[in-house]
Amino acid sequence: MKRMLVTGGAGFIGSEFVRQAVGSYDVAVIDCLTYAGDVERLSTVKSDIRFYQADITDPEKTRHIINTERPDILVHWAAESHVDRSILNASPFIDTNIKGTQVLLDCARAVGLSLFVNISTDEVYGDLDEKGQFTETTCLNPSSPYSVSKAAQDMLGRAYHRTHKLPVITLRPSNNYGYWQYPEKLLPVIIFKAYNNERIPIYGKGENVREWLHVSDCARAVLEVIEKGKTGEVYNIGSGNEERNIDVVKTVLKIMNKPESLIEFVPDRPGHDFRYSLNCSKIKEEINWSPTVDFQKGLYETTSWYLSNLQWVEGKLAALRQYWDKVYRP
Ligand SMILES: NC(=O)c1ccc[n+]([C@@H]2O[C@H](COP(=O)([O-])OP(=O)(O)OC[C@H]3O[C@@H](n4cnc5c(N)ncnc54)[C@H](O)[C@@H]3O)[C@@H](O)[C@H]2O)c1
Repeated sequence: MKRMLVTGGAGFIGSEFVRQAVGSYDVAVIDCLTYAGDVERLSTVKSDIRFYQADITDPEKTRHIINTERPDILVHWAAESHVDRSILNASPFIDTNIKGTQVLLDCARAVGLSLFVNISTDEVYGDLDEKGQFTETTCLNPSSPYSVSKAAQDMLGRAYHRTHKLPVITLRPSNNYGYWQYPEKLLPVIIFKAYNNERIPIYGKGENVREWLHVSDCARAVLEVIEKGKTGEVYNIGSGNEERNIDVVKTVLKIMNKPESLIEFVPDRPGHDFRYSLNCSKIKEEINWSPTVDFQKGLYETTSWYLSNLQWVEGKLAALRQYWDKVYRP
């Protein structure tokens, strides 16, 4: 079995990736457990993996773990991942997403692994109006401190491939949704607030469009790229499910049998990207990957999952309420 080291494996998508990779790979995880990390997400696989609580911005510790693990493959999910938080304070984004990536790339060079999978995002392209799509050759034009830090991560990985011949693949997934997402992101916020009959804050008029990709489809795409992808290449990972935020909210309210009067429009996020849309011909043709989760079914199952796991959200509530007070101004 190949040895795989996964950064950010206690996060939302990283943990789904670990759950899917166990059995096919010998998996170890590095995660420093920020507010967004939670080992509970790994409870079903904890006896199958090795877990290191460590910060990827710490070169000594990271080098020690990589030298101990000697992975064949490193999959880099660890990041500060929330745009709104990057608007409040960009520092942790610069530290983890840029410096942390550089530390990992240098360690990877030193140990000589066979593949470094660098997880970027569709947000590095900037935004679109109603028409058009991003291909892998579209110029990067990020707009938030988060997406700028991810663009730097993306470009650093490609620079190490070109300059140092490090075997890097760059992946740019669209907006993920599903179980275990930290409840600062739109979907769990809607579900939790609707459940408690609280006002649901929606930026602007809710017209911003995202391409909604189920977390299980995203993790499977990454595993398939690891098997069939070419080093030095970039692959978009999208679902084709483009939805306006307001339509997502209304669908969830319908599923939960709650009134639309709970929706409260709040001042827009500064610099809010209007629309993202990925052209995914490359991953479909070269890797033979396609998404399988129907969006309506995925929304229904996700809503049911949060309603059955309210305790998990409630455990994070004190910190969340303080955060919500800062970002959503009525
Ligand atoms: N969520 C999305 O819709 C989406 C879309 C495209 C790309 N991505 C990218 O996918 C990756 C995972 O996203 P997510 O939504 O699962 O994020 P997340 O915030 O849920 O998880 C991030 C994980 O990284 C860990 N982490 C953060 N800083 C660290 C550090 N310095 N050292 C070690 N661990 C650290 C956290 O503890 C957490 O477990 C990120 O790189 C993100 O940019 C996410």
